[in-house]
Amino acid sequence: MVTWNEQLSVGIDEIDNQHKQLLKIINELSESIDGPKSEALIGLTLMKLANFAKYHFATEEKYFLQYGYPEAEDHIKKHNDLVRDIQVFFDRFFNDSQDILAELISLLDKWLEDHLGNEDMKYAAYFRENNLIK
Ligand SMILES: [Fe+2]
Ligand SMILES: [Fe+2]
Repeated sequence: MVTWNEQLSVGIDEIDNQHKQLLKIINELSESIDGPKSEALIGLTLMKLANFAKYHFATEEKYFLQYGYPEAEDHIKKHNDLVRDIQVFFDRFFNDSQDILAELISLLDKWLEDHLGNEDMKYAAYFRENNLIK
């Protein structure tokens, strides 16, 4: 489980708050692994995750454009890859009624560690070095 701490701050409140929200949704999914499984609740949380991830990525990409981030293209590709991966799990869950939870959580945990921990830190460093944020 990944928890938010100051080291994950990108220096923009709007994005930090979204990261906290994203972690909260993913932790909700993790919790439903152990607890009694309600298909309806898992489905709802999956939809929340898919929608929120897209919304969060659009916010970051807005800043990339606004601040002329040179690595934007590569970063946006990584966002799109995750949206596509979530969609695959989504289809397996809703169309084929597969138990995808453990596999999805493991992918999300790895993704969070790498993406929040490394990729998002790169734009934060760029924004800071160029005095675009505090
Ligand atoms: Fe992010
Ligand atoms: Fe990102």
